[in-house]
Amino acid sequence: MAEVSLRGIRKSYGAVPLFDGFDLEVRDGELLCLLGPSGSGKTTLIRVIAGLEAIAAGRIVIGGRDVTALEPRHRRIGMTFQGYALYPHLPVRRNLSYPLEVRGVARAEIERRVNATAALLGIEGLLDRRIRQISGGEQQRVAIGRAIVQEPDLYLLDEPISNLDASLREAVRGELRRLQRTLTATMVMVTHDQMDALAVADRIAVLHRGRLQQIGTPAALYGRPATLFVAGFIGRLRMNFLAGRLGEDGVLRGEGFALPLPAKIAALPGAAEQEIVAGFRPEVVEVLSADAPGAIPVRAAGELFHGEQTIAFFRLGPDLVQALSAAPIGLPMGAAAWLRPAPEALHVFDRETGRRLADNLATEETS
Ligand SMILES: Nc1ncnc2c1ncn2[C@@H]1O[C@H](COP(=O)(O)OP(=O)(O)O)[C@@H](O)[C@H]1O
Ligand SMILES: [Mg+2]
Repeated sequence: MAEVSLRGIRKSYGAVPLFDGFDLEVRDGELLCLLGPSGSGKTTLIRVIAGLEAIAAGRIVIGGRDVTALEPRHRRIGMTFQGYALYPHLPVRRNLSYPLEVRGVARAEIERRVNATAALLGIEGLLDRRIRQISGGEQQRVAIGRAIVQEPDLYLLDEPISNLDASLREAVRGELRRLQRTLTATMVMVTHDQMDALAVADRIAVLHRGRLQQIGTPAALYGRPATLFVAGFIGRLRMNFLAGRLGEDGVLRGEGFALPLPAKIAALPGAAEQEIVAGFRPEVVEVLSADAPGAIPVRAAGELFHGEQTIAFFRLGPDLVQALSAAPIGLPMGAAAWLRPAPEALHVFDRETGRRLADNLATEETS
């Protein structure tokens, strides 16, 4: 087990720096998900931690040891690669033992670790099969096994779930979570899938263009996104956004709507007479058939039936907004309706900087 501290990391591939003074702290024994869209720098960052990428500046400390100048093999890291990078022609057993053979670990010790790891992962029956003869889900276990046999201080897993079929993913999320608990390991898991991150992480670090947007528990990121980017990225259904100008009277006015904001939000420093964006999740919208205080007029634009719930779409000026409903609503296309977002669940952001102006009203410190 080990905590990780990255300080002032600088790294460029070309003229433009990818990381320009990047800091990150990973706590001892936590499963931290590094979440961001493709190209945001996730793989590069864990390769930097592993020592596989040179950096222009910065310091990397793992478990109190400054490893910045150490070779990758001296950093006591177990890593899995995007796409697994296993040896397809070798049996599972050799794939597991190889990193230990390279290090000159004694035969008996290799045997012990390989067998214990195979038992832990439930792949004892596969040890003599070649990689190309086992399924994708089994390959994923072997890749993690190859990290476990090394008994590392720190696990770095690059997109371990992303290649799996949807039907397997839910189960594998649970397995990874239990495995991390069993090993009491510090793990950094890379994913571009926010549902993977929300499901398994102790904390999530959201990366966008090489910058840390926010770090916190899944509940904190979902409940109090620090930036518009995080607000739009986290959550199964995309948050609805209303851009407009907040008047002295506390009413947010934009294209096709006027929404009175709760006094507490309107009173925030930097809110009045400013261009802001109000966000509300489809989960907290009431669909009304008549106007009411705090409601905005919209036109029905279809719905998607998902069995236990229905996602209804509405046209608001040039935008589509979504509302989640327990039962089908059944409005004809183009019918008038009113949407009332729960005032305590509104999020407000500075339109220009994208920063959250303050906590929403029902604040709970969860980070
Ligand atoms: N070896 C490389 N040479 C040049 N550019 C690279 C290299 N590796 C990554 N990049 C660039 O750095 C950025 C981050 O890449 P990466 O860390 O792979 O992102 P992610 O894993 O989040 O998809 C991308 O713009 C990518 O094109
Ligand atoms: Mg990647």
